[in-house]
Amino acid sequence: MDICFQQGRLTDDDFKKFSALIFAKTGIHLKPEKKELLNARLGKRLRACQLDSFSEYYDRVVHDSSGNELVQLINCVSTNFTSFFREKGHFDFLSSSVFPQFGKKGGSTAPCKIWSAACSSGEEPYTLAMVTALYMARNQSFRASILATDISTKVLAIAEKGIYSMDKIEQIPAELLRNYFQKGVGNCSGYVKVKDELRRLVTFRHINLMDAFPWKEEMDVIFCRNVMIYFTRETQAELAEKFYHCLAPGGYLFIGHSESLTSIGHRFQQAATTVYKKIK
Ligand SMILES: C[S@@+](CC[C@H](N)C(=O)[O-])C[C@H]1O[C@@H](n2cnc3c(N)ncnc32)[C@H](O)[C@@H]1O
Repeated sequence: MDICFQQGRLTDDDFKKFSALIFAKTGIHLKPEKKELLNARLGKRLRACQLDSFSEYYDRVVHDSSGNELVQLINCVSTNFTSFFREKGHFDFLSSSVFPQFGKKGGSTAPCKIWSAACSSGEEPYTLAMVTALYMARNQSFRASILATDISTKVLAIAEKGIYSMDKIEQIPAELLRNYFQKGVGNCSGYVKVKDELRRLVTFRHINLMDAFPWKEEMDVIFCRNVMIYFTRETQAELAEKFYHCLAPGGYLFIGHSESLTSIGHRFQQAATTVYKKIK
């Protein structure tokens, strides 16, 4: 006989505890209207852990000294929607207005360091890689590297594999698809895989934007798109300041089209819609 267990619902108190924890660990601010969404997303994790109540699950997360359950919690709550060539104007601006400035620095050819700072499942950094590869093919002295980071280990694992279903690649122009993706056959038909030459341009790392950035060198271009909307204005201002420090003079910050730095204090100069420049 099948026995069904009734799983408790997320109470207002549970919501307060979880949203405070999520805010402290990720900067993600969950408004009260997100309670049902959190109930659904955490409910799946509760079932996977075979727990009956959200308060038991909360205790599991905060008392897990390995930090593994916190990673699982963050994987559940982060919103990861993305697509290839999302907000395409940014990529056009990059190759027409930004790359030409970064070919040569101080007489020697310095690589342009690009950071996709909330890369989700890889569509953004691989789009950057395609645009970069195209530019490199036409400008032999231009070199670039792409760092792609995210707080979610779940999406990073997908990004590192670089395998996408056909419905995900509709925005990729046919020529780029032919040049940079391998078509799956047999069990893999219906999927494409990023070719090694493109994959090599991108390094993936697990990084929480709330932490200090763990490198010393300066970035030339930062894409941090469609993540600041989940943060409070105060967190957005702190992050904008961290990006300012992290950029080389003359470097660029790209944010999502529905985001803006207008209402927060910042030191950038606006270079185009949702594109900001660190003035020398
Ligand atoms: C909606 S996706 C945006 C992906 C891509 N930048 C784009 O515009 O298509 C937001 C991403 O931000 C990540 N994220 C949320 N909070 C973060 C944090 N504190 N540090 C790093 N990444 C974070 C999420 O895991 C998610 O993959």
